[in-house]
Amino acid sequence: MTTTNKTILVIGGTGMLGKPVAQQLKADGFNVRLLARNPEKAQKLLGAGYEIVKGDVDSPAALREAMNGVDGVHISLKGGPTEADFDRMDHLATRDIANAAKEMNVGRVTILSAYAVSEEKADTPESRSKVKGEAALKSSGVPYTIFRASWFMETLPLFVQGKSISLIGNLPHPLHWIAVKDYARMVSKSYQTNETLNKELYIFGPEAYTMGEAMKIYAEHTGVKVAPMSTQMLAALGLLTFNTEWKGMAVLMKHYENWGEDGSPEEANRLLGAPQETLQEWLQKPLTSQ
Ligand SMILES: NC(=O)c1ccc[n+]([C@@H]2O[C@H](COP(=O)([O-])OP(=O)(O)OC[C@H]3O[C@@H](n4cnc5c(N)ncnc54)[C@H](OP(=O)(O)O)[C@@H]3O)[C@@H](O)[C@H]2O)c1
Repeated sequence: MTTTNKTILVIGGTGMLGKPVAQQLKADGFNVRLLARNPEKAQKLLGAGYEIVKGDVDSPAALREAMNGVDGVHISLKGGPTEADFDRMDHLATRDIANAAKEMNVGRVTILSAYAVSEEKADTPESRSKVKGEAALKSSGVPYTIFRASWFMETLPLFVQGKSISLIGNLPHPLHWIAVKDYARMVSKSYQTNETLNKELYIFGPEAYTMGEAMKIYAEHTGVKVAPMSTQMLAALGLLTFNTEWKGMAVLMKHYENWGEDGSPEEANRLLGAPQETLQEWLQKPLTSQ
């Protein structure tokens, strides 16, 4: 697929990991359409030069309107923190988008998933929903590419509270931290070849650090302190304060205590060019341009 006159619909294009993909696709010459619940917000976030269709993924009519005439659809949705909402976003929305794309002869659907998405490792509502969503995409018959990305560097600041960064749980596994810009470049490149079709591609950054090591590097650079907390403690605090986000985070981090990266990035790197940016390089940039 060349970029000229090709339109890609991004669903979740206002999100932390969807917006850079929409921007990269546009920079690479694709026409980019967004399905957005709040078009004004989308317009403000992304600026001019995007087609915006107002709608929710729960609406079959909005999905069909947004998919009219597109060559590809990229999904970057986020569910949770309740089990029902993970199922709604990571499973049912993926299924409905894939089925509509098949019906409408869309050339391909790409989706951001995660590593450790398999029946064997499906020990949380999120991972169970992602397993079902991936299965629904594959069985829909639409050509697909699944991006099984490792941890994004952009998530590190999300753990900062005041002057400390919370190291939740005991995560012993080395993780290949990836900068979202490298990932976005790889997604856009995937639309420029048919070799990526019907594949699961592992997107791993150039260096591996455990969560604790990455947080230490982040802390040294930004002057915050690493504050360790067990998943049990966070779950208990979440229960006591009725904080569903904290309860959900405790469950998520327990999953990543259990499972390290699986799969190999070799095929993604060969087809799409290996990610280059290291954590130290990423930290050198001002927050706004990361
Ligand atoms: N964190 C990591 O390191 C990592 C690694 C691998 C994979 N992932 C996965 O990446 C995915 C995206 O994460 P993120 O951080 O980018 O999420 P995010 O910032 O919360 O973005 C979610 C996007 O989905 C849109 N959305 C939500 N509900 C919708 C609905 N009903 N209809 C239409 N659009 C809807 C949101 O639009 P609005 O603007 O309307 O809210 C937003 O654009 C998640 O599934 C996550 O598990 C994350």
